Amino acid sequence: MLDLGDLGLDEGAHLLIKRALARDRSAIVTGSAPSLAIDVPAWCRVRGHACERRADSFVITAGADRWRHAERAGGSAPIANPPARWGLAARGALVEAGAPELDLPLAVWASEAERLYAQAAAAQWDPATAIPWDAPIEHPDEVEDAVVQIMTYLIENETAALLVPVRFLGRLHPHFREVMQLLAIQAADEARHIEVFTRRARLRRRELGLSTASGQASLATLFDEREFAVAAMLLAVLGEGSFLSLLWFIRDHAPDDCTREVARLAAQDEARHVAFGLAHIAHELAADPSLRGRLAAAIERRHTALAQTAGLNEEVFDALLLLAAGGWEPSALRRGHAAVVALSREMDDGRRLRLGRLGFVADDAARLSALHTRNFM
Ligand SMILES: [Fe+2]
Ligand SMILES: [Fe+2]
Repeated sequence: MLDLGDLGLDEGAHLLIKRALARDRSAIVTGSAPSLAIDVPAWCRVRGHACERRADSFVITAGADRWRHAERAGGSAPIANPPARWGLAARGALVEAGAPELDLPLAVWASEAERLYAQAAAAQWDPATAIPWDAPIEHPDEVEDAVVQIMTYLIENETAALLVPVRFLGRLHPHFREVMQLLAIQAADEARHIEVFTRRARLRRRELGLSTASGQASLATLFDEREFAVAAMLLAVLGEGSFLSLLWFIRDHAPDDCTREVARLAAQDEARHVAFGLAHIAHELAADPSLRGRLAAAIERRHTALAQTAGLNEEVFDALLLLAAGGWEPSALRRGHAAVVALSREMDDGRRLRLGRLGFVADDAARLSALHTRNFM
């Protein structure tokens, strides 16, 4: 027996009926709200419940339970192969049967994803306030030209670093929530890098620098990879890993505070991107050691594809040299040249170290690092 009092179905009385049916599958409902005689049968009809009118009550019997074939979308931790029928449901939700299936087949996981996402969320910075845009710029014009060329090159590379993972993100099963969040915030990081490098380039110049066919050819090959772990190896472990050294180089040789800060803050973010690439590949390798061969093959394939291109654009190399030299005296240029040579050695050291952490033996790590694109990314 359920007495609704004078509460109408348009005032929330249906909650009481639902609660009663959930408990006992049937209920005898009475009440004094004037619209009850119309509302109760209509409400039951829509939900497939039987409703029998008695003198001053309704006998309601619950229809087929629409949740009978519902399925729990995993638990708190992800499973390896979540089915498409879970759709967009939150991991752990009870999913009604018959929900639409989406074409989101990609499974990407690393147990560090949650921690790296939290770290990324806490480390977001505001380009408007984090960068000293008004810091004095007192270096020679040609050094400013070098800064503009380096920024132009960085923007192009950041654009690839944004678009390549986002294409995977668009196909990722939402079951891998932490990875989805991490890739989204990583895209926001790259968006910020593009913004600050563009603003820095335009501080004193109306036009940006050069974009070369070989630089673009190198980045274009990143779009060819279909396997996330392989793309992560080329882009994150080797490319963004090398970029870490490059950004530290720019930070250390920056001719002004603004350039120093954009490089320093971008490098902070890049370190997380590299960490996730490493974590994901390590996770995949643990389950499938044959991946190591596919990773090596992808590095070799990319090297072959780029063998005929010019490598790092000469203007970028010269701009880095001039940045480190800071002026035109022969002794300064010698110092600048030595610094750029040391930079490429440091990039190589970093790549070999990371390949070693993924279980490549020293000889393989050295060989594969040497095959990495001369364009750095
Ligand atoms: Fe970036
Ligand atoms: Fe990045």
